[in-house]
Amino acid sequence: MVPVQPEHAPFPLQRDHLVEETLYVGHIIDERYMSVTWPSMPIGIAEISQRLSMWLAMRQPAGAESDQPTGRGTVETWDAIRARRNVRSYTDDTISDADLDRITEAGWRAPSASNRQHWDFVVVSDRTQLAELSTVWRGAGHIAGAAAAIALVLPEPPDERSRLTDRYDLGQATYAILLAATDLGIGTGHSSVGEQDKARAILGVPDDHLVAYLIGLGYPADRPLQPIAKPDRRPLDEVVHRGHW
Ligand SMILES: Cc1cc2nc3c(=O)[nH]c(=O)nc-3n(C[C@H](O)[C@H](O)[C@H](O)COP(=O)(O)O)c2cc1C
Repeated sequence: MVPVQPEHAPFPLQRDHLVEETLYVGHIIDERYMSVTWPSMPIGIAEISQRLSMWLAMRQPAGAESDQPTGRGTVETWDAIRARRNVRSYTDDTISDADLDRITEAGWRAPSASNRQHWDFVVVSDRTQLAELSTVWRGAGHIAGAAAAIALVLPEPPDERSRLTDRYDLGQATYAILLAATDLGIGTGHSSVGEQDKARAILGVPDDHLVAYLIGLGYPADRPLQPIAKPDRRPLDEVVHRGHW
Protein backbone atom coordinates (compact mmCIF):
# COMPACT_ATOMS: atom_id res chain seq x y z
CA MET A 1 0.00 0.00 0.00
CA VAL A 2 1.43 3.37 -1.00
CA PRO A 3 1.33 5.81 1.91
CA VAL A 4 -0.42 9.08 1.16
CA GLN A 5 2.24 11.77 1.15
CA PRO A 6 1.32 14.89 3.12
CA GLU A 7 1.21 16.94 -0.09
CA HIS A 8 -1.36 14.49 -1.50
CA ALA A 9 -3.44 14.37 1.62
CA PRO A 10 -7.05 15.38 1.08
CA PHE A 11 -6.79 18.24 3.49
CA PRO A 12 -3.83 20.34 4.61
CA LEU A 13 -1.55 18.49 6.95
CA GLN A 14 1.22 20.33 8.74
CA ARG A 15 4.52 18.74 9.75
CA ASP A 16 3.84 19.70 13.32
CA HIS A 17 0.41 18.06 13.35
CA LEU A 18 0.33 16.07 16.53
CA VAL A 19 -3.20 15.18 17.48
CA GLU A 20 -3.84 15.06 21.19
CA GLU A 21 -7.62 14.95 21.33
CA THR A 22 -10.00 12.63 19.59
CA LEU A 23 -10.95 14.62 16.54
CA TYR A 24 -13.38 13.77 13.80
CA VAL A 25 -12.36 15.00 10.39
CA GLY A 26 -14.51 14.78 7.31
CA HIS A 27 -13.65 15.59 3.74
CA ILE A 28 -15.22 15.19 0.32
CA ILE A 29 -13.11 13.11 -2.07
CA ASP A 30 -14.49 12.58 -5.56
CA GLU A 31 -17.96 13.30 -4.21
CA ARG A 32 -17.58 10.55 -1.66
CA TYR A 33 -17.48 11.31 2.00
CA MET A 34 -14.38 10.18 3.80
CA SER A 35 -14.02 10.34 7.50
CA VAL A 36 -11.08 9.76 9.74
CA THR A 37 -11.27 9.39 13.46
CA TRP A 38 -7.93 10.21 14.95
CA PRO A 39 -6.79 8.26 17.99
CA SER A 40 -6.92 9.98 21.33
CA MET A 41 -3.15 9.87 21.72
CA PRO A 42 -0.44 11.92 20.03
CA ILE A 43 0.54 10.56 16.62
CA GLY A 44 2.99 11.92 14.09
CA ILE A 45 2.69 12.85 10.47
CA ALA A 46 3.92 9.42 9.30
CA GLU A 47 1.14 7.58 11.06
CA ILE A 48 -1.44 10.11 9.88
CA SER A 49 -0.28 9.45 6.31
CA GLN A 50 -0.42 5.69 6.81
CA ARG A 51 -3.92 5.88 8.24
CA LEU A 52 -5.10 8.10 5.41
CA SER A 53 -3.76 5.68 2.80
CA MET A 54 -5.59 2.85 4.54
CA TRP A 55 -8.78 4.84 4.60
CA LEU A 56 -8.43 5.82 0.97
CA ALA A 57 -8.00 2.14 0.04
CA MET A 58 -11.19 1.35 1.93
CA ARG A 59 -13.14 4.33 0.65
CA GLN A 60 -12.11 4.14 -2.99
CA PRO A 61 -12.17 0.45 -3.93
CA ALA A 62 -11.06 -0.40 -7.45
CA GLY A 63 -12.23 -2.85 -10.11
CA ALA A 64 -14.31 -5.87 -9.15
CA GLU A 65 -14.22 -4.91 -5.49
CA SER A 66 -15.93 -1.63 -6.32
CA ASP A 67 -19.04 -0.93 -4.33
CA GLN A 68 -22.24 0.53 -5.68
CA PRO A 69 -22.93 4.20 -4.95
CA THR A 70 -25.83 4.63 -2.61
CA GLY A 71 -26.72 8.07 -3.93
CA ARG A 72 -26.65 9.32 -0.36
CA GLY A 73 -22.91 9.47 0.16
CA THR A 74 -20.82 6.76 1.76
CA VAL A 75 -21.65 5.85 5.32
CA GLU A 76 -18.65 4.86 7.41
CA THR A 77 -20.41 2.04 9.26
CA TRP A 78 -21.73 0.63 5.99
CA ASP A 79 -18.20 0.48 4.60
CA ALA A 80 -16.98 -1.36 7.68
CA ILE A 81 -19.86 -3.85 7.45
CA ARG A 82 -19.03 -4.59 3.82
CA ALA A 83 -15.25 -4.69 4.31
CA ARG A 84 -15.13 -7.03 7.30
CA ARG A 85 -13.95 -10.51 6.55
CA ASN A 86 -12.00 -13.14 8.44
CA VAL A 87 -8.33 -12.22 8.25
CA ARG A 88 -5.94 -15.04 9.11
CA SER A 89 -2.59 -13.63 8.01
CA TYR A 90 -1.21 -10.51 9.54
CA THR A 91 1.70 -8.12 9.07
CA ASP A 92 4.26 -7.70 11.86
CA ASP A 93 2.80 -4.30 12.77
CA THR A 94 1.68 -3.91 16.34
CA ILE A 95 -1.69 -2.42 17.28
CA SER A 96 -1.58 0.69 19.43
CA ASP A 97 -3.02 0.54 22.94
CA ALA A 98 -5.50 3.28 21.96
CA ASP A 99 -6.83 1.14 19.10
CA LEU A 100 -6.99 -1.98 21.28
CA ASP A 101 -8.87 0.04 23.88
CA ARG A 102 -11.37 1.24 21.32
CA ILE A 103 -11.93 -2.25 19.93
CA THR A 104 -12.56 -3.75 23.36
CA GLU A 105 -14.73 -0.80 24.37
CA ALA A 106 -16.93 -1.61 21.37
CA GLY A 107 -17.56 -5.04 22.89
CA TRP A 108 -18.14 -3.53 26.30
CA ARG A 109 -20.83 -1.25 24.84
CA ALA A 110 -22.76 -4.12 23.21
CA PRO A 111 -26.35 -4.81 24.28
CA SER A 112 -27.16 -7.88 26.38
CA ALA A 113 -30.30 -9.53 27.74
CA SER A 114 -31.47 -7.53 30.78
CA ASN A 115 -28.11 -5.75 30.50
CA ARG A 116 -26.52 -8.72 32.27
CA GLN A 117 -23.19 -8.39 30.46
CA HIS A 118 -22.26 -11.99 31.16
CA TRP A 119 -18.91 -11.64 29.45
CA ASP A 120 -15.28 -10.89 30.15
CA PHE A 121 -12.64 -10.04 27.58
CA VAL A 122 -8.97 -10.94 28.01
CA VAL A 123 -6.73 -8.90 25.71
CA VAL A 124 -3.46 -10.62 24.85
CA SER A 125 -0.52 -9.21 22.91
CA ASP A 126 2.31 -11.24 24.43
CA ARG A 127 3.89 -13.37 21.68
CA THR A 128 4.38 -16.43 23.88
CA GLN A 129 0.76 -16.39 25.02
CA LEU A 130 -0.43 -15.91 21.43
CA ALA A 131 1.66 -18.88 20.27
CA GLU A 132 0.25 -21.03 23.08
CA LEU A 133 -3.32 -19.93 22.32
CA SER A 134 -2.86 -20.98 18.69
CA THR A 135 -2.75 -24.60 19.90
CA VAL A 136 -6.07 -24.72 21.75
CA TRP A 137 -8.07 -25.56 18.61
CA ARG A 138 -7.29 -26.95 15.17
CA GLY A 139 -8.64 -23.72 13.61
CA ALA A 140 -6.62 -21.41 15.88
CA GLY A 141 -3.35 -21.43 13.93
CA HIS A 142 -3.73 -17.80 12.83
CA ILE A 143 -3.62 -16.59 16.44
CA ALA A 144 0.14 -17.26 16.53
CA GLY A 145 0.75 -14.59 13.90
CA ALA A 146 -1.76 -12.06 15.20
CA ALA A 147 -0.63 -8.79 16.76
CA ALA A 148 -3.13 -9.38 19.55
CA ALA A 149 -6.09 -11.52 20.44
CA ILE A 150 -9.20 -11.04 22.49
CA ALA A 151 -10.43 -14.07 24.41
CA LEU A 152 -14.20 -13.95 24.89
CA VAL A 153 -15.06 -15.51 28.24
CA LEU A 154 -18.44 -16.63 29.60
CA PRO A 155 -19.39 -17.84 33.08
CA GLU A 156 -20.79 -21.34 33.49
CA PRO A 157 -24.53 -20.73 32.89
CA PRO A 158 -27.01 -21.66 35.64
CA ASP A 159 -29.60 -23.00 33.16
CA GLU A 160 -30.32 -23.64 29.51
CA ARG A 161 -32.02 -20.28 28.96
CA SER A 162 -28.92 -18.42 30.22
CA ARG A 163 -26.71 -20.59 28.04
CA LEU A 164 -28.68 -19.43 24.99
CA THR A 165 -28.91 -15.74 25.87
CA ASP A 166 -25.27 -15.56 26.97
CA ARG A 167 -24.19 -16.96 23.60
CA TYR A 168 -26.49 -14.56 21.77
CA ASP A 169 -25.12 -11.63 23.76
CA LEU A 170 -21.53 -12.68 23.17
CA GLY A 171 -22.26 -12.78 19.44
CA GLN A 172 -23.37 -9.17 19.60
CA ALA A 173 -20.24 -8.14 21.51
CA THR A 174 -18.15 -10.07 19.01
CA TYR A 175 -19.64 -8.30 16.03
CA ALA A 176 -19.15 -4.90 17.67
CA ILE A 177 -15.49 -5.83 18.18
CA LEU A 178 -15.14 -6.95 14.57
CA LEU A 179 -16.67 -3.78 13.18
CA ALA A 180 -14.68 -1.46 15.44
CA ALA A 181 -11.49 -3.19 14.32
CA THR A 182 -12.45 -3.05 10.65
CA ASP A 183 -13.20 0.63 11.07
CA LEU A 184 -9.54 1.06 12.08
CA GLY A 185 -8.25 -1.03 9.14
CA ILE A 186 -7.47 -3.90 11.53
CA GLY A 187 -8.32 -7.44 10.46
CA THR A 188 -10.04 -9.94 12.74
CA GLY A 189 -10.08 -13.74 12.70
CA HIS A 190 -12.34 -15.92 14.85
CA SER A 191 -11.22 -19.09 16.46
CA SER A 192 -13.18 -21.59 18.49
CA VAL A 193 -11.56 -23.07 21.59
CA GLY A 194 -11.30 -26.84 22.03
CA GLU A 195 -8.91 -27.41 24.92
CA GLN A 196 -10.59 -25.47 27.69
CA ASP A 197 -8.19 -26.35 30.52
CA LYS A 198 -5.22 -25.28 28.43
CA ALA A 199 -6.89 -22.01 27.33
CA ARG A 200 -7.88 -21.22 30.92
CA ALA A 201 -4.33 -21.89 32.13
CA ILE A 202 -2.74 -19.66 29.47
CA LEU A 203 -5.09 -16.81 30.34
CA GLY A 204 -5.58 -17.36 34.09
CA VAL A 205 -9.32 -17.74 33.61
CA PRO A 206 -11.20 -19.31 36.59
CA ASP A 207 -12.36 -22.94 36.25
CA ASP A 208 -16.05 -22.00 36.34
CA HIS A 209 -15.66 -19.91 33.17
CA LEU A 210 -15.55 -20.91 29.53
CA VAL A 211 -13.09 -19.44 27.04
CA ALA A 212 -15.76 -19.35 24.37
CA TYR A 213 -13.86 -17.88 21.41
CA LEU A 214 -10.68 -16.09 20.44
CA ILE A 215 -10.56 -13.15 18.06
CA GLY A 216 -7.19 -12.63 16.38
CA LEU A 217 -6.34 -9.03 15.53
CA GLY A 218 -3.77 -7.62 13.13
CA TYR A 219 -3.21 -5.60 10.00
CA PRO A 220 -4.02 -7.81 6.98
CA ALA A 221 -0.96 -9.26 5.23
CA ASP A 222 -2.90 -10.56 2.24
CA ARG A 223 -5.06 -7.68 1.02
CA PRO A 224 -6.42 -4.51 2.58
CA LEU A 225 -9.90 -4.35 4.01
CA GLN A 226 -12.14 -3.04 1.27
CA PRO A 227 -15.88 -3.32 0.72
CA ILE A 228 -16.53 -6.74 -0.82
CA ALA A 229 -18.94 -6.48 -3.74
CA LYS A 230 -19.93 -10.17 -3.80
CA PRO A 231 -19.47 -11.81 -0.41
CA ASP A 232 -19.63 -15.62 -0.18
CA ARG A 233 -23.17 -15.79 1.11
CA ARG A 234 -26.44 -17.52 0.30
CA PRO A 235 -28.45 -15.34 -2.10
CA LEU A 236 -29.99 -12.36 -0.31
CA ASP A 237 -33.50 -13.13 -1.59
CA GLU A 238 -33.24 -16.70 -0.32
CA VAL A 239 -32.33 -15.49 3.16
CA VAL A 240 -34.52 -12.41 3.53
CA HIS A 241 -38.26 -13.11 3.62
CA ARG A 242 -40.51 -10.11 3.22
CA GLY A 243 -43.81 -10.21 5.05
CA HIS A 244 -43.96 -14.01 5.22
CA TRP A 245 -41.65 -17.04 4.74
C1 LIG B 1 -18.75 -18.97 15.94
C2 LIG B 1 -17.64 -18.92 14.92
C3 LIG B 1 -16.54 -19.74 15.05
C4 LIG B 1 -15.51 -19.68 14.14
N1 LIG B 1 -14.40 -20.46 14.32
C5 LIG B 1 -13.36 -20.34 13.49
C6 LIG B 1 -12.15 -21.07 13.73
O1 LIG B 1 -12.03 -21.81 14.70
N2 LIG B 1 -11.12 -20.88 12.90
C7 LIG B 1 -11.21 -20.06 11.81
O2 LIG B 1 -10.24 -19.93 11.09
N3 LIG B 1 -12.36 -19.36 11.54
C8 LIG B 1 -13.42 -19.49 12.35
N4 LIG B 1 -14.57 -18.77 12.10
C9 LIG B 1 -14.67 -17.92 10.91
C10 LIG B 1 -15.68 -18.44 9.87
O3 LIG B 1 -15.16 -19.54 9.21
C11 LIG B 1 -15.97 -17.27 8.90
O4 LIG B 1 -16.56 -16.21 9.60
C12 LIG B 1 -16.90 -17.69 7.77
O5 LIG B 1 -16.26 -18.64 6.94
C13 LIG B 1 -17.32 -16.51 6.91
O6 LIG B 1 -16.18 -15.85 6.38
P1 LIG B 1 -15.96 -14.29 6.60
O7 LIG B 1 -15.94 -14.04 8.09
O8 LIG B 1 -14.62 -14.00 5.97
O9 LIG B 1 -17.08 -13.58 5.93
C14 LIG B 1 -15.60 -18.82 13.02
C15 LIG B 1 -16.70 -17.98 12.90
C16 LIG B 1 -17.71 -18.01 13.83
C17 LIG B 1 -18.86 -17.05 13.69
